[in-house]
Amino acid sequence: MVHKFDAIVVGAGGAGLRCALELSQHNFNVAVLSKLYPVRSHTGAAQGGVGAALGNEEPDSPEWHFFDTVKGSDYLGDQDAIEIMCEDAIETVLELEHFGLPFSRTPDGKIAQRPFGGHTSNFGEAPVKRACYAADRTGHMILHTLYEQCVKNQVRFFNEFYVLDLIVEGETCQGVIAYDLATGEVNVFQAKATMLATGGHGRAFSITSNAHTYTGDGMAICFRRGIPMEDMEFVQFHPTGMRKLGILVSEAARGEGGILRNREDLDNIGTGKDGFMAAIAPTIKDLAPRDVVSRAMYNEIKEGRGIAGTGDPGSDYLYLDLVHLGADTINTQLPDISHFARTYLAVEPIKEPIPVQPTTHYAMGGIPTDVEGRVLWDAKNKPVPGLYAAGEVACVSVHGANRLGTNSLVDIIVFGRRGGKDMVRYLQETEFSRMTGEPDAFIRGEIDRLQNGGGKEQVVDIRTNMQKVMMVECGVYRTKESLTKARDAIMELRQRYQQVSVADKRACFNTELMEAIELGFLLDSAWTIAESALIRNESRGAHSREDFPERDDENWLKHTFIHYVEDGKVKFDYKPVTITKFQPKPRVY
Ligand code: FUM
Repeated sequence: MVHKFDAIVVGAGGAGLRCALELSQHNFNVAVLSKLYPVRSHTGAAQGGVGAALGNEEPDSPEWHFFDTVKGSDYLGDQDAIEIMCEDAIETVLELEHFGLPFSRTPDGKIAQRPFGGHTSNFGEAPVKRACYAADRTGHMILHTLYEQCVKNQVRFFNEFYVLDLIVEGETCQGVIAYDLATGEVNVFQAKATMLATGGHGRAFSITSNAHTYTGDGMAICFRRGIPMEDMEFVQFHPTGMRKLGILVSEAARGEGGILRNREDLDNIGTGKDGFMAAIAPTIKDLAPRDVVSRAMYNEIKEGRGIAGTGDPGSDYLYLDLVHLGADTINTQLPDISHFARTYLAVEPIKEPIPVQPTTHYAMGGIPTDVEGRVLWDAKNKPVPGLYAAGEVACVSVHGANRLGTNSLVDIIVFGRRGGKDMVRYLQETEFSRMTGEPDAFIRGEIDRLQNGGGKEQVVDIRTNMQKVMMVECGVYRTKESLTKARDAIMELRQRYQQVSVADKRACFNTELMEAIELGFLLDSAWTIAESALIRNESRGAHSREDFPERDDENWLKHTFIHYVEDGKVKFDYKPVTITKFQPKPRVY
């Protein structure tokens, strides 16, 4: 089937919905394609807050937010984009309030705010309450609020449609190819403008806070079409994933006063006394940025101070102590995570600490875009006409080498909206052009290979191997040796992937087939992460090379752009970091 819309939005998380809303407000004919029912999108898993310097609880300023984000990014974030984000954050959060988002409130009725990792007052002086929150369900509330607005504005939704390819004519994007899960039909969606808002690739790793749907789809379909990926080496590990499961325990828990504890600190549980982070980040302690805290946790475990004392960061863990906060704070401010602790770990956080370990959480890298959400063909900022990206799939770059907590929700609403606005401009200036050839031929061939190729490989074997190797060799710490191992293993798995076939041959709800396709996307992400991490010979933000332990501004204050050449072969080019106000300095917290 062939569909024709002014604009297509791929992905129904916060970035996609905010973009679709903008387009619908200008009366364009817009369709959202989502592989899920929209309110199941991964934005719903974001817990602790959305950062905006409203100053509702104490003095704050967008300039401090700007500074914290630059410093948090280890000076790799582009400062023009960060400044825009921190300024726009205020208006976009208030807009959400007016759309009806049920924020938690201060006693005088303003949006409540809490401290979060790396957010400070007065350029690093002390933690500041900047995260606007709805208990620990902020992402969930954003998702539902935006979905309601889109429905009200008659946005057309195609749910359980998997977007598998772009339609590119010459250098212009003309829409997408999507697979309808209910029927097995391959659909062509022609559009003048397409927004990709498909999220990240955390499922390339074995321990992750990411939903099963986070399989790097948008990144892979671009990469295969010759669009480079930017800064793929930067993958964030969130300090507090539930032990073994990786499920997120929000940073809001530490924002409310939670403390990380090692095995030498067990007598202090429930006392509120400082834990090991006080020695590492004396000013902001447990609220240091995630890269700093995750490394500290890894080192505690490695040095035998994990709770089990095994010295093995792969299996040992630490405690997150909330006991001193009391039942009232835990139940009212952190209802979801306390419920998760009870359900998944049989731990009662009012009385006992929660076992935690770092969990793969966020892709700082992705599809390169400018500040209007336009996708770029290269490091020289040449746009791909008709193609936009926003949210985790994109790299603007506002997060640089390490994202601050709450800035993902800011990113999605600010750049979803900005992308939508620029699409409005583009749609007003652009006519539909004629599609040529058979844009769905590649995908039909791929589906045929997977269903009828007769290969003997199983999705689950390749996926398990990939996730394990990425976690072990490409994790919190890396070396040339570990990354080479990861890259070589991924190349071998990519070869084996050519021999995958699925047992289910049906057209209707063939989730086995879609899992096979998603595995192909993940292998692209894993490949680009390993190659990009191998080339960056320094430590910066979330990319910690034990063999290059220092940040090297002389050689590496630049973004990596990895290009597909042919299978097994990539090439790189580089883009300088935009520095407007804050010169790189050593990061001390
Ligand atoms: O910890 C959290 O609540 C996660 C928020 C984020 O990733 O920004």
